[in-house]
Amino acid sequence: MMFSRSHALILTIPLRLKLQAGRVVCRTVTSTAKPRELNDGFAVRSRLDVPEKGTPAPRIAGRKWLPGSTFQGHELPEFLAGPKDNMPAVYEAVGTGLTLREWSDRCRRIMDDKLHVYGTILFRGLPLESGDDFSRFFREVGYRVANPAGRIGRRREVASDVFTASDNNPPAYTLEPHNEMAYTKNYPMKIFFYCQVPAEPGQGGETCIADNRDILPRLDPKVVQKFEKLGIKYHYYVASKAVDKDAYLSWQSTFGSEDKAVVEECLREQECEYKWQEDDSLIYWRYRPPFITHPKTGEKVWFNQLVVGHVSYYFDHPAWVDKKLPYERYPENVYYGDGSEIEPEVIQHIRDVTWQETVGFQLQKGDVLAFDNIYAHHGRIGFDCERVLYVGMTSE
Ligand SMILES: [Fe+2]
Repeated sequence: MMFSRSHALILTIPLRLKLQAGRVVCRTVTSTAKPRELNDGFAVRSRLDVPEKGTPAPRIAGRKWLPGSTFQGHELPEFLAGPKDNMPAVYEAVGTGLTLREWSDRCRRIMDDKLHVYGTILFRGLPLESGDDFSRFFREVGYRVANPAGRIGRRREVASDVFTASDNNPPAYTLEPHNEMAYTKNYPMKIFFYCQVPAEPGQGGETCIADNRDILPRLDPKVVQKFEKLGIKYHYYVASKAVDKDAYLSWQSTFGSEDKAVVEECLREQECEYKWQEDDSLIYWRYRPPFITHPKTGEKVWFNQLVVGHVSYYFDHPAWVDKKLPYERYPENVYYGDGSEIEPEVIQHIRDVTWQETVGFQLQKGDVLAFDNIYAHHGRIGFDCERVLYVGMTSE
């Protein structure tokens, strides 16, 4: 279906105007969901049309395998909200006769221009059928590929520079919205999800989006100020694969090496302190600020992993729920920067606000969802069906 410029009158209105770090940052929304055609062959929509007819929104409060969902006094929303204006922005490929290279060039131009404005852009209708196609697209878009060293969790490379989205979390587990690798200085700047096998309607698997620009103003200023004053200590425990071959995470898999000298070099490079344990396991920790400056906009952004880095992340996790371990034997925990414990209700407050500001929807086969990783969180609702997503990450 083609759309003419006269098909829809788009009125652009400012959603928010911020003066931070000496710069004005304006995120805009369009007043209609009707599509308009761009010369580049995309129909642009300000809002994704969901949910599918008859498919109820997934439950959040009280949901099994969702961290914090049973916390006494929580303020989680009852259900997952649907997409909002330009969250994500939607670019549907409607032009014909274009090669994948030509589409990737057009996507690159759109992202250079708009990804930091919207936070997320959904590209729908691109000629992508497989992980290999996505890998080609991802590399032809041309951003520098991120180095995954030091990230928590396992991923499998399915095509060049393209990985499975998450191998170490059971499908039923709901992954809370988070900024990727916000616990390191090596965080990716952009993330691309590609949908190879969509979830079945009504079986969960919605992809979730939240934006730090929506979350920060709703956080208790006293909570924010305390983190700004003290910083954050991220603490990790990884078993040794040589001792526990079924370990959830091992230092060998986390750092991609069996050589302790290589691991130590990586830890130093990431400004981590560390200690080898008698059972060949490893603990390490690092200090990071709760805010960073967005390199493109100059905006001071709330950017951390306080929620998914907290030990309570594991209390509703199928693999951990019955373990009742000392906190330092869980894979991760966060503390105030002076080493003191963060009050559970503080974590729950951030968790509540994050979910209150989260939207979600089902990706379709061939969709590419691009995230500005500094602004936009990604997550997923637990699911009970086949669902296959691949991911590529960039360092610019
Ligand atoms: Fe992630």
